[in-house]
Amino acid sequence: MDRVTDEIVTYYQTRYEEAGRLDRRPQGRLERIRTLELLRELLPAAPARVLDVGGGPGAYARELITDGHHVRLVDIVPDHVEQARAGVPPIDAVVGDARELPEPDASHDATLLLGPLYHLHERADRVRAIEEAIRVTRPGGAIAVAAISRFAGPIDFVSTARFDERMLAESRRLITDGVNDPSIGFTHAYFHRVAELRDECRAAGLADVVVHGVEGPAWPAAEAARSGPDADAVFDAALAVARVYSSEPELVAVSAHLLAIGVRSGRDDRA
Ligand SMILES: C[S@@+](CC[C@H](N)C(=O)[O-])C[C@H]1O[C@@H](n2cnc3c(N)ncnc32)[C@H](O)[C@@H]1O
Repeated sequence: MDRVTDEIVTYYQTRYEEAGRLDRRPQGRLERIRTLELLRELLPAAPARVLDVGGGPGAYARELITDGHHVRLVDIVPDHVEQARAGVPPIDAVVGDARELPEPDASHDATLLLGPLYHLHERADRVRAIEEAIRVTRPGGAIAVAAISRFAGPIDFVSTARFDERMLAESRRLITDGVNDPSIGFTHAYFHRVAELRDECRAAGLADVVVHGVEGPAWPAAEAARSGPDADAVFDAALAVARVYSSEPELVAVSAHLLAIGVRSGRDDRA
């Protein structure tokens, strides 16, 4: 394992509790609701064979199993794999790297890549991870690829009253460079522009790519209102506009997370 990947594993094993992330804050709750809605629109009728790459402790995998799908989870962090196996319902989970998936060609009806892409600094590694997702998906099968928007950090710091001179400088730097500075927060990460995510998906060979903004343009309002009397009303309204503007090109980049959806081209000979 290379040094950067080793540090990402150490971060999740010792410094950050990924389980529960999607329930802690309005941004996470919007992310979970909208991601699940988009996945349910994308997936074929249950039971489908779904590979969840970078699935973490299994928040989405458990929902999809409950929907009747057969889900296999691959993650590079051993603690996440243990948590995925141990929860209810238990998940068929293995340790593995998105760049070299331990799965046969065309062995799944759909593949999710919701996490690894924003932990890979090098474009070649990100394209390789998408190529792997395509390889293990049957022709005609769906693929979903998540990224963190280039502008998510500064917007988050504004909405949670943590914006200072250092974040102002970081906001300027992010215009030209999407590599995260782990000393400010998170771990080694890469933050995408929308066009860049689309380009990486196409370079890997993904067809019919559409990029969605997951939390929608009003997620910062939901964060800013979270402790006030209007918290629920603002959250509900933010969710409503997230649905309306999901793939509106002029607003997508304002979301904290981007979700590129596409298909593996070619004919499914099993039909
Ligand atoms: C923020 S979590 C996202 C978890 C879940 N998919 C979700 O969307 O809530 C990112 C996940 O990607 C995993 N990950 C990072 N780099 C990876 C790689 N190269 N291969 C496989 N998993 C990786 C991490 O261990 C972590 O579980």
